[in-house]
Amino acid sequence: MARAEAEAIQRLLSEQNERLRELDRMKDEFVSLVSHELRTPLTSIRGYLELLFEEGGNLTPEQERFLGVVDRNSERLLHLVGDLLFLAQVDAGRLTIEREDVDFEEVVQDSVEALRPIAESRRIELVASITPLPTVVGDPARLAQVLDNLVSNALKFTPEGGRVSVSLHADGDRAVVEVKDNGVGIPRAEQSRLFERFFRSSRATHDAIPGTGLGLAITKAITEHHGGRISVESEEDVGTSVRVELPLPAAHDAAAPAHEVAV
Ligand SMILES: Nc1ncnc2c1ncn2[C@@H]1O[C@H](COP(=O)(O)OP(=O)(O)OP(=O)(O)O)[C@@H](O)[C@H]1O
Ligand SMILES: [Mg+2]
Repeated sequence: MARAEAEAIQRLLSEQNERLRELDRMKDEFVSLVSHELRTPLTSIRGYLELLFEEGGNLTPEQERFLGVVDRNSERLLHLVGDLLFLAQVDAGRLTIEREDVDFEEVVQDSVEALRPIAESRRIELVASITPLPTVVGDPARLAQVLDNLVSNALKFTPEGGRVSVSLHADGDRAVVEVKDNGVGIPRAEQSRLFERFFRSSRATHDAIPGTGLGLAITKAITEHHGGRISVESEEDVGTSVRVELPLPAAHDAAAPAHEVAV
């Protein structure tokens, strides 16, 4: 009798597990579908906005200001949709990574220069120290995304007057990029959750620093799809340092097949 009961419970559990897996798959599909459907109208809204801005002369200053808000928010939405689609691709095992020779020094330099105006507007000293290294094999656009995510995090979570430094060097068979700031830091108890999707530290929410909590999950997925790894060291009110290591060509083939990555 007890055995029959145990078997019945077992069956029930496995049916429930199957159902949960199915629901999880439906959720992934739903997010992917909705994101696709949002992208088209958003792109259209931004296209017409651009037309309005081009006709600038006819707008009152107030209209221009309102349109600026529409512009920034639609840009944010489009960015979010892009992030959700990216992670849907990762989940479906469909993330495609180009494999070409990448001048990583240029990727790092470009990202730093692109974000310099933000640093300047917040009076944050942004310095880059780049040591020449061999080409990395990978996807230049994705690697740029990694740098953009890390440097913009460092700038975002560092108060005015702070300092952000980016360094790139080779360490044995690895290219190492480090982004260091002397900003708000991350409470120790929260550090293990940093790469979870939608995770934001209590500090980020308390200080109302904008963000979705997808950047680091995406950064980790890209890094691991390149056979690399990412780690964070941080102390609250002292600062944060994020380190990304990527294999340099000779070691790359051995490290490359990291294709199934859970984030
Ligand atoms: N340099 C940093 N200093 C302090 N906290 C950080 C830093 N980088 C990341 N964090 C913390 O980790 C959380 C997750 O970072 P992540 O980049 O994934 O999200 P986000 O920047 O909030 O949003 P998104 O990147 O999606 O726009 C942040 O919300 C913040 O709490
Ligand atoms: Mg971020």
